[in-house]
Amino acid sequence: MTIRVLTGITTSGTPHLGNYAGAIRPSIQASLQPGVDAFYFMADYHALIKCDDPQRIARSRLEIAATWLAAGLDADKVTFYRQSDIPEIPELCWMLTCVTAKGLMNRAHAYKAAVDVNVAKQAEPDDGISMGLFSYPILMAADILMFNAHKVPVGRDQIQHLEMARDIAQRFNHLYGAGREFFVMPEAQVDDEVATLPGLDGRKMSKSYDNTIPLFEGGAKALRAAVARIVTDSRLPGEPKDAENSHLYTLYRAFATPEESLAFRHELEAGLGWGDAKQRLCDRLEQELGPMRERYAELMSAPNRIEDILQAGAEKARKLSAPFMARLRDAVGLRATVAVPSAGSSKDKSMRQARFVSFRDEDGRFRFRLLDAAGQEVFLSEGFANPKEAGEVIRQLQGSGVDGFAIPEAGGFALQVGAILVCRLDAERLEQARQALAAMKQD
Ligand code: TRP
Repeated sequence: MTIRVLTGITTSGTPHLGNYAGAIRPSIQASLQPGVDAFYFMADYHALIKCDDPQRIARSRLEIAATWLAAGLDADKVTFYRQSDIPEIPELCWMLTCVTAKGLMNRAHAYKAAVDVNVAKQAEPDDGISMGLFSYPILMAADILMFNAHKVPVGRDQIQHLEMARDIAQRFNHLYGAGREFFVMPEAQVDDEVATLPGLDGRKMSKSYDNTIPLFEGGAKALRAAVARIVTDSRLPGEPKDAENSHLYTLYRAFATPEESLAFRHELEAGLGWGDAKQRLCDRLEQELGPMRERYAELMSAPNRIEDILQAGAEKARKLSAPFMARLRDAVGLRATVAVPSAGSSKDKSMRQARFVSFRDEDGRFRFRLLDAAGQEVFLSEGFANPKEAGEVIRQLQGSGVDGFAIPEAGGFALQVGAILVCRLDAERLEQARQALAAMKQD
């Protein structure tokens, strides 16, 4: 079985070394594993929550896309896209919003932290908090559930969001599934092997601490300048250094082989000066990042090429999201033409009706199912080349029932509308279809 892995990066800044070692590099490695179907995207709708500077948003989407590609992502192998190129994502987000308890969102860490800050400075609890920030976990759930991801590699801070995504998915399945599961339950994948890099001051490398080392921006020079600012203790050249407790060594280890790291450690313990140690770190970083930086510069100077790659990625993603969304629209009752229950019938009753559900299969053909009043499948149609043809067959069946269309054959019946084969079914199924269609006609 293939495992679908999905993750996104919020496009509100310029990628730094921590983003690369903590998210991009391990994700690219994962995408090369056999049996992995990877979906990686730019979370640019999420970026609007944090940032209202259009220039910065535009630049960051481009930089982050170029970074993925420069770092070796194979856009033909994975599905690589921008969130905002998939209109089904905000559409699903709204459907999920309508089944999400407000109380669940009240408990989200990011929202609670913002409230705590306000309370601490004696402002209104919700001061400056947008609905975007408040319901951010629902948008993230839509990202994940849209593509039925099994595994979502994230940092620890995102585990709660995955729990919420499962909660919301279950609620939707329960309300609308009628025995079917629309959504796969996604799981957070927090990998302890993946490096969380320390920043210049030893705290976690993060834009919010202003302690980052730039990945490509500013070139080798900016990298060197940042490394020069890494905080070390005051031991002089010749004095033994405590490698384990130096974040310079931690950074080195995230880029070197175990043998190289051991050798570096021995040198530090033998008294290597911090200046020389920084030089070694720079050289090691350059070895990995130098060639990528060249590809990055090339890509940044050809934004049209990136755009083409992203458009192709969006097209690939929408092959899944568009037909899935059609099924979900049908499930919640946003349907065209078919069997509208009479006014006054309760929601419960309408959910218990027999009905047709149309969708587009993985090969792009149009099919439909007849479901009985309990939501169980009576039959699945053959694939049709276009939705019109499928729609016409449905109309004929709704109008006339099955009887005129059932042709006996070995082992059962062929349901055939004109020359068009709808499906093959046995006598019991045919009877179920007859009853389901009769019930539909009465409504
Ligand atoms: N919220 C994530 C972050 O800030 C980014 C993100 C958005 C994401 N949608 C996602 C990550 C879906 C994984 C899956 O890091």
